[in-house]
Amino acid sequence: MASSAQSKKLRILLMPFFASSHMGPFTNFAVHLAAARPDVVEATVAVTTANAPFVRSIIARQSPSHVKVEVATYPFPVVDGLPAGVENLTVVKPADAWRIAAAAVDEAVMRPVQECLIRELSPDAVISDMHFFWNTDIAGDLGAQCLVFNVIGAFPSMAIAHLNSSLAAAASDGTRDVDTTRSSEAGVVPVPLLDGKDMLIPHTELPEFMRVKEAFDASVMDRIGSSTTRCASRAANTFLGLEQGYCELFAGTVQTRPSYFVGPVSLPPAGAAPAAIGGGGAAAGRSPCIGWLDRMPSQSVVFVCFGSLAPVSDAQLVELALGLEASTKPFLWVVRNDTWSPPEGWTERVGERGMLVKGWAPQTEILGHEAVGVFVTHCGWNSVMETVTAGVPVLTWPMVFEQFIIERLLTNILGIGERLFPEGAGVRSTNSEEHDLVTAETVAQAIIKFMEPGGGGDAARKRAKELSAEARAAMAEGGSSHRDLQRLIDDLMGARTEQRHATNILHA
Ligand SMILES: *[C@@H]1O[C@H](CO)[C@@H](O)[C@H](O)[C@H]1NC(C)=O
Ligand SMILES: *[C@@H]1O[C@H](CO)[C@@H](O)[C@H](O)[C@H]1NC(C)=O
Repeated sequence: MASSAQSKKLRILLMPFFASSHMGPFTNFAVHLAAARPDVVEATVAVTTANAPFVRSIIARQSPSHVKVEVATYPFPVVDGLPAGVENLTVVKPADAWRIAAAAVDEAVMRPVQECLIRELSPDAVISDMHFFWNTDIAGDLGAQCLVFNVIGAFPSMAIAHLNSSLAAAASDGTRDVDTTRSSEAGVVPVPLLDGKDMLIPHTELPEFMRVKEAFDASVMDRIGSSTTRCASRAANTFLGLEQGYCELFAGTVQTRPSYFVGPVSLPPAGAAPAAIGGGGAAAGRSPCIGWLDRMPSQSVVFVCFGSLAPVSDAQLVELALGLEASTKPFLWVVRNDTWSPPEGWTERVGERGMLVKGWAPQTEILGHEAVGVFVTHCGWNSVMETVTAGVPVLTWPMVFEQFIIERLLTNILGIGERLFPEGAGVRSTNSEEHDLVTAETVAQAIIKFMEPGGGGDAARKRAKELSAEARAAMAEGGSSHRDLQRLIDDLMGARTEQRHATNILHA
């Protein structure tokens, strides 16, 4: 990044949190910003040293060849309990994940390393994850614009903001115990919906950080909230057609500042062919699971893939394996744990009908394949964006974070799927040890019922296909997300011009 203060280009620095679910969309967003006006925008993604290769690999895959996105690095601070080189949620031991999350919002620990880089690069705008609430002040000091980019949509963002404030209020007046980890009957927290009804979230389904007293730091929440309010504006990885009413609500919470809905950012930039789909391009060959999908009938396959962060016990994997077998449907199952093996004899019994992939699979390409009939998903936002883009209906199996909230958007509001583990079937919890085992029979029954001709799956697919068309239209030239992206760049350019005028007057 050229640091000349009078550079003609609009220099934007993007700073994601240390998880692939944040670094991925931030990098995609950077590609979109640069591709929208290659002559005007210079986008740089800033991450800690060990995370740089991941960001570079996305740029190599996503960025059209005429578009350049830079990567800048800063050192990950020394954090008690984290070995050197452990700088993201993918590689940290699950029991230590909170250390990364806690370090990210710790001003004393994280601000110095970030501030040093921001001052050195002196960008025109900083697009920051909400964790790094001090970036508002740093940007302000430098006369730069500051934006927060939400990697999740308007509905979960609004729900979480509401939950945060009601839990903070309960904690401060002492009327309610925030520590709900011990009891599954500790009640429900209502979140108001646009239709005037309440969405009821049992305590066990709240994001973990709200459930553990030690982890719920109301003062950090306050500072994140006030920093977001002081920021120039906010952008989110969603599109108006998906959650219009909630987008309006989201925009309305900070009325003096614009909001931009720019997703799904996982789609390639309008009018530009991606450099090479699948990294190595055609030479690298297609993944064997695509060849397998080619041999399956249209809309017949159950695709199962959970996020890399959700802990799934061995016992649960066995039930899932037996449930997929009992469903009698073709299935493509991605298991992240590459040392796990299915039960004795299972592989032979399911034969060609089942494809088990260990480790990584090309999810976007799989969802785009016409053989896929349903996606069994943990409801991570990026998977939601991908399945909506592809028009594939879902069976939901939320596990951690805000996934139980997103599930309600998919099933109750958008109608693109059903719960796999039905209401009343057992305890559902963001704490995997507390979550009841989902039995093989539950898995098989849910799949069979959903995929019955004329059943829930058909209605959900119809709706998913409509949203898919809307997602593509939003990102195409002239679509709502494309317009918001252009407006965002125009607004940043305008603000910079004003800033320079003000500085010139000051120095005249
Ligand atoms: C996480 O860190 C490791 C190194 O510890 C790195 O190899 C990997 O690319 C990083 N990013 C992600 C998203 O896994
Ligand atoms: C992966 O599977 C093995 C064998 O079943 C198990 O011992 C190990 O704990 C699993 N690892 C994770 C991270 O779940």
